[in-house]
Amino acid sequence: MILTSRGGPDYGPGPFGLSGSAYPAGVTTPVSGPPRPAASPVDLVRATRSDRAVLSNLGQLYRHDLSEGMGLLPNADGTFNNRRLDAFFVADDPTARGWLIRVAGQTAGFVLTHADDAGGHTGGQVLGDFFVVRALRRTGVGMTAAVAVMRARPGRWTVGFQDYNRGARAFWTRVATAVAGENWSLEHRPVPGKPELPPDSWLTIVDVSAGDLSGTGPATAPSAGDTSR
Ligand SMILES: CC(C)(COP(=O)(O)OP(=O)(O)OC[C@H]1O[C@@H](n2cnc3c(N)ncnc32)[C@H](O)[C@@H]1OP(=O)(O)O)[C@@H](O)C(=O)NCCC(=O)NCCS
Repeated sequence: MILTSRGGPDYGPGPFGLSGSAYPAGVTTPVSGPPRPAASPVDLVRATRSDRAVLSNLGQLYRHDLSEGMGLLPNADGTFNNRRLDAFFVADDPTARGWLIRVAGQTAGFVLTHADDAGGHTGGQVLGDFFVVRALRRTGVGMTAAVAVMRARPGRWTVGFQDYNRGARAFWTRVATAVAGENWSLEHRPVPGKPELPPDSWLTIVDVSAGDLSGTGPATAPSAGDTSR
């Protein structure tokens, strides 16, 4: 008799995350689930307002992921607010840019960036929102896409994240090291207007250089000169 279990790191050793003792004596636990989808090639496709449907849908998955750490519940209609994506759609920030991450031709995530005008800075970019679908996580897709987006616009980049978003710090420090070696810094900043929240972490990479994508997996770089919306 074989018990069906997803197994794997997300589910723990037994069915539905129960301990191994949940299996009857003598039953062998399957160790792997269905095959993972192809994790390459990674393409970054410039998103426009005509991509509203796919961005909105991915935006809901993204906000749901973040809601766990943030302790946020959905609205009465089951959706989460997504203010930066709303702002992208109304195009009130001419510096806002978006990309769809496509992997082996499939929809796999999205990226939103905008110019950094905080603290008197000019010329830098903020990587504001970043999402990879769950079935492709820990396959290097996020790293490949983040490095490609940054290297397409050399210079200073900042990324904000919450320390309680599990994996975010490990992910962004890996990305920073990939694009700038040790030339990045991390600081805590209070959340504007929300003193009750823990401070955000902000990672600053002073000088991302343009470059090839060797070592980060295959990816098509987004066009740096493309300003169309
Ligand atoms: C964070 C996120 C973008 C990472 O994407 P990903 O494609 O899984 O990342 P990668 O596979 O490229 O990971 C590269 C490295 O980052 C680190 N890392 C990524 N996710 C991690 C996690 N959950 N825990 C610990 N380390 C992690 C690891 O060092 C990893 O290398 P390894 O798998 O060889 O150990 C993805 O988990 C996601 O979309 N999360 C939900 C939305 C989110 O939190 N976005 C960021 C907002 S600031």
